[in-house]
Amino acid sequence: MIGRPVGVHGTGKYVPERILTNQDLEQMVETNDEWIVTRTGIKERRIASEQEAASDLAYEASRIALENAGIGPERLGLIIVSTMTPDVACPSTACILQERLGAKNAAAFDLSAACSGFVYGLANGANFIASGMYDYVLVVGSEVLSRVTDYTDRNTCILFGDGAGAVVLGPTEEGRGFLSFELGADGSGGSLLRGGCVGGSRYPKESDLPEGMTPHIWQNGREVFKFAVRIMETLTESVLAKAGKTKRDIDLLVPHQANIRIIHAAMEKLELSEDQVMINVDRYGNISAATIPIALAEAVEEGRVKKGDTVVLVGFGGGLTWGGAVLTW
Ligand code: UT7
Repeated sequence: MIGRPVGVHGTGKYVPERILTNQDLEQMVETNDEWIVTRTGIKERRIASEQEAASDLAYEASRIALENAGIGPERLGLIIVSTMTPDVACPSTACILQERLGAKNAAAFDLSAACSGFVYGLANGANFIASGMYDYVLVVGSEVLSRVTDYTDRNTCILFGDGAGAVVLGPTEEGRGFLSFELGADGSGGSLLRGGCVGGSRYPKESDLPEGMTPHIWQNGREVFKFAVRIMETLTESVLAKAGKTKRDIDLLVPHQANIRIIHAAMEKLELSEDQVMINVDRYGNISAATIPIALAEAVEEGRVKKGDTVVLVGFGGGLTWGGAVLTW
């Protein structure tokens, strides 16, 4: 990274209270706990209440991140909310959050890069600080995927959940903070994963959808799986190389939590042990842009990162998109 050093000053997470277990899903679609656990590693996921939207989850996670950072909301120069399930298209979820937090000096925008959205948000936030444009930036991943999930489709409804994670970024001392970022996209793979298709300018109403297309999240699971396994390895290697490091330097990898088999494949290729990888997909399932900040917040809560550690974040998802970051904690 060019410019002044930028680090993470505080992390926070919020997951809704309601738990949807594999046993609950057995009552809803033709599936079973054994299939879900062996194919995905997921045991349960959180579901937002009817009153909770993305900004509500984002608010709870952000409050905690600001408290942990010891930064008042008025010191934020920018708020970025990465989400594929915004409250509404306009105003942005980031603007709704800005008002609720009382972050009156902050610019605010939403960012759309599906499951890679949080790392895209970090790269934006960190570069704004490195350049001197802002001092403190709040980056949030917040999703209410239950609103775009079809609970009659066993291929998808077992995978997704709701939640939010947030970090406060700010200037840090020399020798600490972000070392490298790598972002990428391959729009030719866009049809492999879709969600929230209704309400935009292409298909304003459900009746506008072409035959065979649903308003819910849909993916070609096998193709996305292959892409994910490939990108997890190559992205981790290349973002580490940009930082002048190798896989042997990793103290903690915080990967996107989509499927335990994808994480295990990456661990094998990168020769990482369980204590070098943050895993919570069993408790939350896939929460798109929120998985990495929630996992990072839990790693901090559990004391799994200490000053000077090399931490690697890697995400991949719809678009297709991917994003990686390396930092010295
Ligand atoms: O965050 C965004 C990125 N998304 C991902 O990373 C997702 C990547 N893909 C995956 O994680 C996996 O492909 C899935 C978990 C989605 C699916 O696992 P799979 O091992 O690829 O299973 P499959 O789709 O190939 O299905 C195997 C069988 C099928 O039956 P047949 O056709 O072999 O008779 C499915 O109908 O399993 C069946 N099946 C189920 N059975 C019980 C599919 N879903 C279920 C289910 N319960 N919930």
